[in-house]
Amino acid sequence: MNRTLTFDELEHPDQCLVESALRASAYAYAPYSGFAVGAAVSTSEEKIVAGANLENASYPLGICAEVTAISSANSQGQFRIKSIAVVGHKFTSPQDFSQVVTPCGRCRQIIFEAAQVSGCEILVFSCNATLTKIEVSPISELLPKPFGPGNLGLDKTWPGTRRRLEDIVSRLLKREHIPIPDR
Ligand code: THU
Repeated sequence: MNRTLTFDELEHPDQCLVESALRASAYAYAPYSGFAVGAAVSTSEEKIVAGANLENASYPLGICAEVTAISSANSQGQFRIKSIAVVGHKFTSPQDFSQVVTPCGRCRQIIFEAAQVSGCEILVFSCNATLTKIEVSPISELLPKPFGPGNLGLDKTWPGTRRRLEDIVSRLLKREHIPIPDR
């Protein structure tokens, strides 16, 4: 269910998460839109990993804050995500710190992938920049009737495949010979 809260109404760990997202918005590379977005994920290992939007002179190549945060967490081996906070604000004239920024459609799909592959709901904290309005909704509500790894049967197989990937890489690092099985 969708709830709108203020910063003071959040539990302490969620306050840390939304503040991390707000802090990360300072590092947005957003010269084209003047719209800074910070995102922060909290992982099943109780880590907070943040990211900011990264724009490009070739406009469609821009990357959203949610994607940089999720990608950064995954690059640290932390794809099991419990929650994600998003804070955005227009920092160039006319400035606007009032709007609640919810993840764009592509980001919802990427958040859903992380949720389904780890078999957990992800709570999304969509915030305005003053943290006076924080909408809390599960990703399943922001992305109803989704298509995801489950449709391809990958939610069940990926954990095992991933363990094999990690094993391959650790053997490559030890310069071990890895026999390639016959097809
Ligand atoms: N943006 C995000 O980072 N996340 C969203 O969910 C919405 C939009 C960024 C993309 C672009 O750099 C700027 O905000 C304006 O669209």
